[in-house]
Amino acid sequence: MACFTMSYAQKQFFKAEKMVETGVYYYPEAWNPEQWDRDFKKMADMGFEFTHMAEFAWAQIEPSEGVYDFKWLDKALELAAKHNLKVIMCTPSATPPVWLVRKYPEVLVEMSNGQAAQHGTREQYSWSSPKYRELTTKVVEVMAKRYGNDKRIWGWQIDNEPSHYGTLDYSPAAQASFKVWLKKKYKTIDALNKAWGTPFWSGIYTDFSQIEIPNAGRQYSGNASPTSFVDFKRFNADECADYVSLQNNTLHSIVSKSQFVTSNFMHGHTDVDPWRNKDLDFICYTMYPVAGYSDGVGEQGFRMGDPWRISYANDFFRPLNGVTGVMELQPGQVNWGSFNPQPYPGVIRAWLWNAFAGGLDFICSYRFRQPLYGGEQFHYGMVGTDGVTESIGGKQYSQFMTEIRDLRKAYTPNAQMPKEYAARKTAILYNADNVWETTQQPQTFQWNQITHVTKYYSAIKTLSAPVDIIGEDRDLSSYPVVVAPAYQMVDRALVAKWTKYVENGGNLVLSCRTGLKDRDGHFFEAQWADAIVNLIGAKIALNDMLGAKMNAKVSFNGNTYLWNNWGDMLDPMAGTDTWATYADQFYAGKASVVHRKLGKGTVTYIGTDTDDGKLEKDVLKKVYESAGIGVKELPEGVMLNWRDGFWVAINYSSVNVTVDIPQNATILFGSKELTPAGVAVWK
Ligand code: GAL
Repeated sequence: MACFTMSYAQKQFFKAEKMVETGVYYYPEAWNPEQWDRDFKKMADMGFEFTHMAEFAWAQIEPSEGVYDFKWLDKALELAAKHNLKVIMCTPSATPPVWLVRKYPEVLVEMSNGQAAQHGTREQYSWSSPKYRELTTKVVEVMAKRYGNDKRIWGWQIDNEPSHYGTLDYSPAAQASFKVWLKKKYKTIDALNKAWGTPFWSGIYTDFSQIEIPNAGRQYSGNASPTSFVDFKRFNADECADYVSLQNNTLHSIVSKSQFVTSNFMHGHTDVDPWRNKDLDFICYTMYPVAGYSDGVGEQGFRMGDPWRISYANDFFRPLNGVTGVMELQPGQVNWGSFNPQPYPGVIRAWLWNAFAGGLDFICSYRFRQPLYGGEQFHYGMVGTDGVTESIGGKQYSQFMTEIRDLRKAYTPNAQMPKEYAARKTAILYNADNVWETTQQPQTFQWNQITHVTKYYSAIKTLSAPVDIIGEDRDLSSYPVVVAPAYQMVDRALVAKWTKYVENGGNLVLSCRTGLKDRDGHFFEAQWADAIVNLIGAKIALNDMLGAKMNAKVSFNGNTYLWNNWGDMLDPMAGTDTWATYADQFYAGKASVVHRKLGKGTVTYIGTDTDDGKLEKDVLKKVYESAGIGVKELPEGVMLNWRDGFWVAINYSSVNVTVDIPQNATILFGSKELTPAGVAVWK
């Protein structure tokens, strides 16, 4: 992928000229072995290049402790190879067999109400359990020894969506591990008391042994130390990452270097932090755009999903190691949403092109066959309940794979990113701490950190900028624009780094809530947001928020924008320009957006958070333009990306749109008139 300037170390697993490879999940253990050959043949005939197996098969791999059965898996592998399908092999740790949980019940997650999780679901094991870690290591070792030098295996997936799906673990193992984690972090109980602010409400501890995991369900009245909750989230994410690393180390100590090791993290799930697993060859994600949770754009948007959801995942997962893929992509209607509509005709192909456009090296459909029994019966596959008829989604996958095979013929190595596109390269800074902290003390029921970050992301993408979402430790110098949305927790070193970036010519955008707290979540014992006041060239006099049905006004460039979520009222200092002002309420006339030059660069502070993001988008547009960076504003719901010499445009809106394709371009697929879910690809 010649999309961004990044580490190509992991490229060894992928052939640049293939650009993207497409595969599909298969669960041989769930189907009649006599159908396996037929099923793999069908996959290959449809155009799939790899398959994926063993993910939930611990009970079949190790039917009783220490007794392994690989005959079935060997057979499945042999048949996959017969049809030229590479295999992603999975470690089966997401689903412990019944013998394991009956013999070692201490491995189970304990929920916030004190009950242990039950057998027969998944992810119900504790990352902290020494017994589970031991048993995982054993089965992973056995599998690694068996398949680690097997040429048919392309790579490995560890576990499945490591996350606990939003359940937090209060088991004795987690309790013990949390204490060890705290001791390591704070060394002394005094340091912990200071960080957690325990003099408040007589919360003081005198020994680490007294500490329990903070449990929101047991809070009697008022909130326990917010810092204790943030620490617990940090611990939880560390514990998950450590469990994944344990498997990664086990695999890497045995398997051939030609096999990759990854895990498929759930996009948008914020109790864990995929970036903590930089030790994997790369991280990848799972993606279901249509499951009743997004209205999308326009009347049919609910059938297409949020136009920026796949792009955001691409830009969040790819920059960590320079490589990513989507390990599960929605095949059609699913079963687990609040309601499960049929995706809009053609949109599944559009999602596939969106994944391609984001520089992904592989795409895997979840799943080949629609299950006939079990917890996901209504979930579509690539073929329907008869096991042979291609589903609506299956047909779109086939079409995409045919198109990619054609596209490969037009591939040119080392295509250079067009200059005007590269000039807009933007980094968004993200730190899970800010999610955890603002969730703990949102201050308004309307605050949602991820919504705020994605609002900025969508605005930037609507201006057709390529984006990397990166951690604050990364080098910022290659990004003309860096945006840190609601970056609440900072330290002086980070602010110094931002200042330097700007002095050297960077354009930094900060939004409301930035710089309010230190890393322990304390306010600074100084003026409000003291850490950033000199950088933004303005004091933050106060902040305000309104009810969801109320609206206050901001004026910017002669336009009026409505807001009610969060507003910072700013007092600019000498040399700082006011770009937008509050137009009503008792603070009418105070600044809402300020901008200043600093060294060779600029700093913009956007103090207001709106629902529709229009103010934010228009301010960002002015930031690029003032910096001499040309942007290209897209119609609402339209995505545009460049990759490997190809431009891809997708229409996620409910109406026809015309995209701007240069006269001299060669259009490979589609046309400049895009219907809803339409795709255009040109060179
Ligand atoms: C994913 C999960 C898969 C499957 C799928 C159904 O989140 O990783 O195992 O359950 O959802 O859509």
